[in-house]
Amino acid sequence: MIGDRMTASRSGALTGLIEVPGDKSMSHRALVLGGLANGETRISGLLESDDVLRTAAAVAALGAEIERLGPGKWRVAGGEWRSPSAPIDCGNSGTGARLLMGAAAGFPIEVTFSGDASLSGRPMSRVLDPLRRMGAWVEAGEGDRLPVTIRGGGLNGINFVNEKASAQVKSAILFAGLRAEGEVEVVEPVPSRDHSENMLRAFGCDVRIEEGTIRLGENRRLSAVDVAIPGDPSSAAFPLVAALICAGSEIVTRGVMLNPLRTGLLICLQEMGADIQLTNQRRVGGEVVADIVARSSHLSAIEVPASRAPSMIDEYPVLAIAAASASGRSVMHGLAELRVKESDRLAAIVAGLRACGVEAWADGDSLIVEGSGGSPRGGATIDANHDHRIAMSFLVLGLTSEAPVTIVGAVTIASSFPGFAASMRLLGAAIGP
Ligand code: S3P
Repeated sequence: MIGDRMTASRSGALTGLIEVPGDKSMSHRALVLGGLANGETRISGLLESDDVLRTAAAVAALGAEIERLGPGKWRVAGGEWRSPSAPIDCGNSGTGARLLMGAAAGFPIEVTFSGDASLSGRPMSRVLDPLRRMGAWVEAGEGDRLPVTIRGGGLNGINFVNEKASAQVKSAILFAGLRAEGEVEVVEPVPSRDHSENMLRAFGCDVRIEEGTIRLGENRRLSAVDVAIPGDPSSAAFPLVAALICAGSEIVTRGVMLNPLRTGLLICLQEMGADIQLTNQRRVGGEVVADIVARSSHLSAIEVPASRAPSMIDEYPVLAIAAASASGRSVMHGLAELRVKESDRLAAIVAGLRACGVEAWADGDSLIVEGSGGSPRGGATIDANHDHRIAMSFLVLGLTSEAPVTIVGAVTIASSFPGFAASMRLLGAAIGP
């Protein structure tokens, strides 16, 4: 159980083995595509977090049959979707909401989507505009925010340029396109994570990718398959950074997915001088995975180019924590999208670091962090503000700071990594209520 208040205190060496939960992006997609496919999909390694369980409940309410067979093991029998009897509450999950909106828009049904305070403040026009162009009828709150009602079916094709490099937007269009007439093309000037394309292919859909354009082919029928979900690199990021900055640590993070569109953080940490080794590389669910050995390291400041942002968009909060312990001034460019995540993460990172005695500021879309090369002061109470990654990042900072760091609203960690505190404690982290 995650309490609503959590405190991290200066810890000794972190040691041992940690298995991070299944990848959140792949978990949402496996449930949605399983719910659309003909036949029975069996999923293993599913992330059983609040966000993903909301998607499971949504897919069931939309007409699929869903059964939990055991820890991480689920069975989904897909089929025609129907209008649910009540609004679909996506909780805190932007991925769940946007993927489901796309998938539901393919059917001649009416669905209303709602969410928590964070999700209700996030922009949905990025998904609703292309769905409208495809012929869906949409009613939304002010500024195209939740609650959103979509009446779908009879969609036409689309050629869409994914300027924001958003995998959620790309996925919504591809999922709606499964039941559209005509060409469905998403052009990506900068590539975003490709789990939807990979999984659509695994379900038998004809997907072509040429020079940054993803195109659905003639055969858009999905047939059930078994899906194995590897460990989430975005969750692995927290114990990894914790081990790097806590003196004397050596940990192994087991079974982490290494899809090249998700490994920006590892590249950054290696550039900073982190002692990280990838061992036991193998394939799980079509992805390369490895066990990652991380030892405490003296980190140097880094300048991160904007072009790297899509491959590590969820990892900036914890990279900023690593930068606070590194020697020198780190600069991270191209972070406009951080302003529309579960919270305004750019503002939350700056405010949290400052509260912990670290000099940090935003300059346009860039984040600047002055690293001391040592322990930050800490001693702050930080409101997670419905943002799981902000909560976990500042708990990691608290493991090395002079005075403890308390997070209020820590219950939000259950969105993506319900076992975070327990797993970190097993490594020796002083995280308590
Ligand atoms: C995700 C895409 C990213 C990421 C989110 C998960 C996905 O969002 O931040 O946590 O699974 O497609 P954007 O599509 O907004 O970049």
